[in-house]
Amino acid sequence: MADAITPDMTIASVTERWPDTARIFARYGLGCASCAISKSETVLQGATGHGGGRVNVDELLRDLNVFAATGKLPSGLPEATAVASGGGMRVKGMAEQKGIKQVIAVMSGKGGVGKSLVAGLLAVGLKRRGFTVGVLDGDITGPSIPRMFGVREKPGVAGPNTLKPSVSRGGIPIMSMNLLLPGEEEAVIWRGPMVSGAIRQFFSDVAWGELDYLIVDLPPGTSDAPLTVMQALPIAGVVLVTTPQALATMVVTKAVRLVKQLGGDILGIVENMAYVAMPDGSRNEVFGPSQGLKLVIAANAPLIARIPIDPEIARLCDAGGIEQYVAPEFEELLANFLSVAQKTPQPV
Ligand SMILES: Nc1ncnc2c1ncn2[C@@H]1O[C@H](COP(=O)(O)OP(=O)(O)OP(=O)(O)O)[C@@H](O)[C@H]1O
Ligand SMILES: [Mg+2]
Repeated sequence: MADAITPDMTIASVTERWPDTARIFARYGLGCASCAISKSETVLQGATGHGGGRVNVDELLRDLNVFAATGKLPSGLPEATAVASGGGMRVKGMAEQKGIKQVIAVMSGKGGVGKSLVAGLLAVGLKRRGFTVGVLDGDITGPSIPRMFGVREKPGVAGPNTLKPSVSRGGIPIMSMNLLLPGEEEAVIWRGPMVSGAIRQFFSDVAWGELDYLIVDLPPGTSDAPLTVMQALPIAGVVLVTTPQALATMVVTKAVRLVKQLGGDILGIVENMAYVAMPDGSRNEVFGPSQGLKLVIAANAPLIARIPIDPEIARLCDAGGIEQYVAPEFEELLANFLSVAQKTPQPV
């Protein structure tokens, strides 16, 4: 039987006849399948003109035609709701409307590598340099962000359907699912659409005020969980956190693919737990030698910091005192972050 969907059909005609194909287009980096410009393009034009020119047209057509013939969607697709709203990184106007200049997401391939720490440090460092900054905890499963900042106060009410974020001692507004739950140990088991709904509300229905930067702590991994969150938000760029032993280049390659799918940019890489500074001034690379160069090649993005294993970090995170952290490597992280973030195109 001939394929129902051919390369010369317009994306509009395909998504009109089979609305769920918008999700398949989104997976191939054509998340704007629902917007006017790409709708008038053919499948072939869309695939060759978008997604960094790296869309595999044959695979896209195969997935589309399997769906047209059987009604079966490939596994691991982005949420329908996220796609329908345009797909996070491509949503223009959402951030400006809120008075937020740049939304920066912090991502890691696996858990426990210090993603929340880096999100927290970026916020603290930016605040110290006079920027206005907020933290949106997109990892609804753990209490790391509120705990690190020592914030327990629940978000308040700012107006009808609007929440007032909790505020750290140092004046950083913070929004986290954990602050809304009765207890820190409370587990949240939510399906994707609920997560994207909640995260979108954390952005839209929270009175953040004017912000230079909103830092988003993403869920760990390089699959559905961070994708769901990224699609719900207008993310300008991603900072990737890894450790020397975390199968770093594989993780980075996956992360790059995911971020590119959404039309975004990896701004820089942070290698956490890179070494222990010894009393004699030498560096003990307990988790193995730096993967720095390989990472830079894999991500085509700069290594913006190597953070040592520092007992003071662990102590301050546990005590809710991350805002007191001082270290030369922290200064370096901030200086490098600012040099890459300020190059990111500002929303028009
Ligand atoms: N460079 C470091 N030196 C000392 N302790 C650190 C360092 N980086 C992280 N930690 C500690 O390791 C723990 C895990 O860090 P963090 O919560 O930032 O990781 P994560 O990647 O966000 O983890 P998860 O996947 O659970 O969200 C924290 O308790 C933190 O205090
Ligand atoms: Mg975390």
